[in-house]
Amino acid sequence: MPEFAELYGRPPTVRADAPGRVNLIGEHTDYNGGYVLPVAIPRRTCVELAPRTDRTVRAWSAAGPGETIATYTLGTEAPGHGWLDYVMGVTQALAATGRRFDGFDLRVTSDVPVGAGLSSSAALEVALLRGLRALYPLTLDDLEIARLGQRAENDLVGAPVGIMDQVAASLGSERTALFLDTRTLAWRAIPLPPTIELAVVDSGITHAHASGEYRVRRDECARAATLLGVAQLRDVAPGDLSAVNRLPPPLDRRARHVVTEDARVLAATAALEAGDLERLGPLLYASHASMRDDFEVSLPAIDALVEAARADPDVIGARLTGGGFGGCVVLVCRAGRAAEAARRVAAAWAKETGGAPVVRVPKVDGPT
Ligand code: GLA
Repeated sequence: MPEFAELYGRPPTVRADAPGRVNLIGEHTDYNGGYVLPVAIPRRTCVELAPRTDRTVRAWSAAGPGETIATYTLGTEAPGHGWLDYVMGVTQALAATGRRFDGFDLRVTSDVPVGAGLSSSAALEVALLRGLRALYPLTLDDLEIARLGQRAENDLVGAPVGIMDQVAASLGSERTALFLDTRTLAWRAIPLPPTIELAVVDSGITHAHASGEYRVRRDECARAATLLGVAQLRDVAPGDLSAVNRLPPPLDRRARHVVTEDARVLAATAALEAGDLERLGPLLYASHASMRDDFEVSLPAIDALVEAARADPDVIGARLTGGGFGGCVVLVCRAGRAAEAARRVAAAWAKETGGAPVVRVPKVDGPT
């Protein structure tokens, strides 16, 4: 892998990084104004930067094709360039705020797996924004960085995502869950109790229609909110499912997931704060069932992975995490047992389904 100086003939002036994330609970609630509870994972995207005095951006990524350096001029950002879209999205979103900055040389490396639902794109956006903040320097707080990352993705990349992933990458840390109200962006750090340890098992399944399905779910939620006469599904009172249950299908199921999921995030946060594992586990399984039956973003193979986790004595709770249609399952395990439990669960599931799972967290040495 070429170093920065080999690519650009000079050393970098700034280094910055940001983590991927796993969401503990609160799925498909962020674009409904609701609650989420993500945690940063020990996998990061790193950027190295050096400033330029013209408007040119030169960029190299270990995820790109070999030693090819991509080039563009600030102000000409346009989609269709693969990983470079996230860089272009960031410079476009930053320029739209009126911030002044020149071009730069950029080198990107990462051990956040791409396409696994662990937010490699948010990690890149936030790492780059942190790097640009230091390089020029710019006055940007961490929440604005998250908002700009989301803007990059919504506008240039064209993915209508909520704000969870970028806030997690910008504010998250590894032993602390981030309770976020996605409407107000008020957040609270919730330390994970010392009795638990997280594991993430990647099913290796990616679904070609995942982004299309995401858009469909988003539209369904917006239609359900309109029919219920609320601005967002967040505004439906948790106990008030009677109006939700009268919606035409599948809007009834979609709204029921979001409303009950918001309540589960609040309950899971309280359980974590009380160190009450008896309450936490069932909430994770209930979240998975709701994603499977009401929101319909799971797959039979992913359900089998959650069931394999449920059968393990060191797993307290498990669920599909992220947008769905494949990706990863998060396991809440007894402290000190996560690596072994994840390996056992992955092996049991591989035997049952013929799948090729990868344990992403805890991080073990070696290629992933
Ligand atoms: C993706 C999106 C997030 C969120 C989740 C589902 O990760 O990027 O904004 O909507 O799906 O919870």
